[in-house]
Amino acid sequence: MGFEERLSRHLAKRREKGLYRELPSYRLYGDNRIINLAGNDYLGLSRHPAIKEACARAARDRGAGNCASRLISGNHPDYQRLEEKLSQWLNREVLVFGSGFLANVGVLSCIAGRHDVFFADKLVHRSIIEGMKLSGARIERFSHNDMDDLKRLLERKRGQADNAFIVTEGLFSMTGSVPPWQEIVHLKKAFDCHLYVDEAHSIGVWGPDGKGLAAAAGCLDEIDIFLGTFGKGWGNYGSFLAATSLLKDYLVNFAPSLIYSTALPPSVLAGIQASWDVITSKEGEKRREKLRENIEYFCEKYKGRSLKRRGNCQIQALMAEDIKTMLKAHAYLKEAGYITAAIRPPTVPPGMAMIRLSLHAEISKKQMSELTEVLNMVDTD
Ligand SMILES: Cc1ncc(COP(=O)(O)O)c(C=O)c1O
Repeated sequence: MGFEERLSRHLAKRREKGLYRELPSYRLYGDNRIINLAGNDYLGLSRHPAIKEACARAARDRGAGNCASRLISGNHPDYQRLEEKLSQWLNREVLVFGSGFLANVGVLSCIAGRHDVFFADKLVHRSIIEGMKLSGARIERFSHNDMDDLKRLLERKRGQADNAFIVTEGLFSMTGSVPPWQEIVHLKKAFDCHLYVDEAHSIGVWGPDGKGLAAAAGCLDEIDIFLGTFGKGWGNYGSFLAATSLLKDYLVNFAPSLIYSTALPPSVLAGIQASWDVITSKEGEKRREKLRENIEYFCEKYKGRSLKRRGNCQIQALMAEDIKTMLKAHAYLKEAGYITAAIRPPTVPPGMAMIRLSLHAEISKKQMSELTEVLNMVDTD
């Protein structure tokens, strides 16, 4: 089969199954009637005046780009300042990467090899899956947040590998669920595994000082390899890995997405610093508090019968019976002025279809009340 014919056939198959994707053409900002519930700007920091000003000033003073890998000439002193700050904050060594996707792929692909094994939750993010695959290590998947299933797998498979890693997320990006921290830490210790946690959606947003959900559960010190992103709750772009100084040293030498990729621009590094200043200040606490209020309100007032609500954090999954029903609800919400995410396979496993709502701190009480009213009227029959 020719190249173009193959591409067209794959696309046609996706269309047939209702899984075809297109880049959306919504006008996200500038129209006050539209509320964006599809992004991950949970604290509203992407439009924070001081953060925007820090980005603009850095671009004016230090240029638009760093224009080389960190290992060549792109390692601007701003990196050192930022990593030192984050390192003191989390009490371990920190290495800043490009996007969270780049970090997961780069780190997971080089920390394990064919004699090792990953035990990963069935709902972990695609970047984690790609990184694990590239490593050549064995991959075992356990049912979502099911510690009995994980234990069964560990009993059967742990002994066959040199090093083992349990891989999960601090706040699952699609279902808004949280892992059972104490049990996962117990299994990690009982089976001599390393614990890898992706806190992309909770860093800055939950926990003491915004340190994430593992910190909120008192388990931060039990995480061996901790990933956070700056493109969600921090309103910016980029990510970081927090671990031992040995692992940091190793990654500087072996993580391909760090070594062979252009460093972050000065504006982004300055923006991340400014986001950290807000997140760790009284204002950050206030924004987290407002987000919590919106979540509590939503959980209490949502009474929709067609879509079943899941999640107790800012990510609310409204589960539909099938893709058609979900798309109908999605179109209805769009018509009513709400941008939401229509989630279906392959983003989630086959058989799942849902509307993903991200609540954020900048939704007023009145808007929350209108939103729940509209959602309670969704009728997919
Ligand atoms: C859990 C998780 N990890 C990593 C990523 C990738 O992060 P980034 O968007 O910074 O590439 C995402 C993105 O949605 C995510 O949900």
